[in-house]
Amino acid sequence: MRIDILTVLPQLLESPFNYSIVKRAQEKGLVEIVVHNLRDFSTDKHRRVDDYAYSGIAGMVMCIEPIDRAISFLKEQRQYDEIIYTSPDGEPFTQKMANQLSTKKNLLILCGHYKGVDQRVRDHLITKEISIGDYVLTGGELAAAVITDAVVRLLPGTLSDEQAALTDSFQDGLLSPPVYTRPANYKGWKVPEVLLSGNTKLIEEWCLQQAIERTKRLRPYLLKSDE
Ligand code: ADE
Repeated sequence: MRIDILTVLPQLLESPFNYSIVKRAQEKGLVEIVVHNLRDFSTDKHRRVDDYAYSGIAGMVMCIEPIDRAISFLKEQRQYDEIIYTSPDGEPFTQKMANQLSTKKNLLILCGHYKGVDQRVRDHLITKEISIGDYVLTGGELAAAVITDAVVRLLPGTLSDEQAALTDSFQDGLLSPPVYTRPANYKGWKVPEVLLSGNTKLIEEWCLQQAIERTKRLRPYLLKSDE
């Protein structure tokens, strides 16, 4: 898989991909992540990529020209399965979406900034708009990092224990059950007896019941949806 990220702040994305699982996935050749500076596609002598909004609302708008030039340049080299725009008013990012994106070959992510991009970018150049939550970040870079991380860890061969992704919260529509490790008794705070019983069937039942209880309490809508 290849993920291209287009941003006005490439420095913000230097560190998130250089550690742990995402770094290992790149070293193993499972994913190539390439960050591009949108300013490299500006023809302005000050490398500007934004301008005032026609509507007069406060804040700058990202111009269509450098974005179109950058996307066209990248599209000449490969076909993208999705061209994603990160924005607070995008489709809410979910595990299901991460699963779907992890099956793709080439993704391009455009990071929003300022008041956002000229609407014509969204209308004509973007295939998917994603929000990572109902709050506003200073830019779409952290959202791009979140999406990339969630997708890359699903690529076969990325996690050392392949089962780990399957037992994640959300993967079966439920939150994960609580986990414990040694010591069995710490300052009188005890690990539930059943987990020490060695009875696999009982333990599995307990984990499922805990997962359902947690989901009911913290994400009741997951139990109601039939997705
Ligand atoms: N850019 C600013 N806020 C964002 C959010 N919540 N999700 C995606 N991109 C954003």
